[in-house]
Amino acid sequence: MISAEKIPNNVDLSSNKRLQRALEHWQPKYIQWWRDMGPQGFQDYHQVYVRTAISVDPEGWAHFEYVKLPEYRWGIFLAEPTPDRRIGFGDFFGQPVWQEVPGEFRNQLRRLIVTQGDTEPASVEQQRWLGQRCPSLYDLRNLFQVNVEEGRHLWAMVYLLHSYFGRDGRDEAEELLERQSGNRDKPRILEAFNEPIDNWLDFFMFTMFTDRDGKSQLMSLSESSLDPLSRTTRFMLTEEAHHMFVGETGVARILERTCQLTKEAGFSGDVRKLGGIDLATIQKHLNQWFSLSLDLHGGEVSSNAASYFANGLKGRAKEDTYDDHQVKDAYYNMEFFEDGRPVTKEVLMRNAMNEVLRDWYVGDCASGVVRWNRILEQHGFSDRLRLPDRKFNRHIGMYSGFSFDPNGVALSKEEFDRRKYEWLPSPADSEYLLSIMAQPVYEPGKFANYIAPPRRGINQLPIDFEYVRTEQ
Ligand SMILES: [Fe+2]
Ligand SMILES: [Fe+2]
Repeated sequence: MISAEKIPNNVDLSSNKRLQRALEHWQPKYIQWWRDMGPQGFQDYHQVYVRTAISVDPEGWAHFEYVKLPEYRWGIFLAEPTPDRRIGFGDFFGQPVWQEVPGEFRNQLRRLIVTQGDTEPASVEQQRWLGQRCPSLYDLRNLFQVNVEEGRHLWAMVYLLHSYFGRDGRDEAEELLERQSGNRDKPRILEAFNEPIDNWLDFFMFTMFTDRDGKSQLMSLSESSLDPLSRTTRFMLTEEAHHMFVGETGVARILERTCQLTKEAGFSGDVRKLGGIDLATIQKHLNQWFSLSLDLHGGEVSSNAASYFANGLKGRAKEDTYDDHQVKDAYYNMEFFEDGRPVTKEVLMRNAMNEVLRDWYVGDCASGVVRWNRILEQHGFSDRLRLPDRKFNRHIGMYSGFSFDPNGVALSKEEFDRRKYEWLPSPADSEYLLSIMAQPVYEPGKFANYIAPPRRGINQLPIDFEYVRTEQ
């Protein structure tokens, strides 16, 4: 059931009047932000068939209806509490989890929550023009589903800030609406969230790789000793899965179509002549978003990461699959780069926690690429997509001062600059992609020429269902 409250929630918001009032005060600013910085041209005259979380059980979770985007019911939902939950890692291992923020970890926790929270509205801002270039109504609806859920993730973080961080938290919640993706004076906190997402290949790669970084981060935060943070992020993960589905299947459908068009062009022909997206361009966008998303995991050797782990604030993905949860005298073999060559050195495991999470992330990405390559294989192609080496195109961490090609071979900066458009999208590539996306496809059941239709529609509806309705 949809609650009659202004802010749908399962946190008994009405029993805490002060908090309820504070959030109701923030709500109109949020809506204003959504109107200004959310999907451009799709605010007042379009009904979108979206899923709205109205509770955390499977039924409430799969509630579909047409809504106008600004009227989406953004709510606050925490996963059910785990009875007698104990701290799963770090120096306080085995103690009961916290229902309040311990004073000594207040700043660290606030920083973690603000950094996560900042990414959510940022991606909505980055994607705000895509509706005008969409390949189909099905894709348009998926874009908006991702957007409204990122909006809800912002709500999730703002709820924590308002509930547990007093005045500071309220100020941070305001600032989350003030920073803007790509803005020179007030940019978003992390680099990947200031990059433009102008075309749908960017969008699909972003939801594949950058939303998957979201999954990494949310998995590690869901291990947190601060129980409300753990429960919030656990529920966010269920929504995040859909975002990666959109990315992975979006690229898969482009690949499918590219294979078809390549055959039509005659294998040696230029698929761009038929309006398709060539594999080289797909690989370049993969390289771009994978490397940007590696950066999001932070520096390889990090005393912050060690302290987050020691204090029980941020764990490893799937912490319960490890044997040692304190990791006091374990070491990680890390590849450093010294005098032009790789050298392996032991680093205290706690200081390598960012790299441990990055390892998990790279593995998760790699299985997605294996699934993409099956499409190429099925079509009899010998080409394959692949993840670039993790040293390639890095701007954060110990490889950032050097240049590497996608195989991880060191290059001079000059050579990298000279060859970079062999590996990363060039202005000409972007121009080409914009040219084939200039005409949006708004007719139910029709798809742009560069992408294959999906296997099935949303919520068991047909592919030609009118997922976005325009009011006359
Ligand atoms: Fe999110
Ligand atoms: Fe997401």
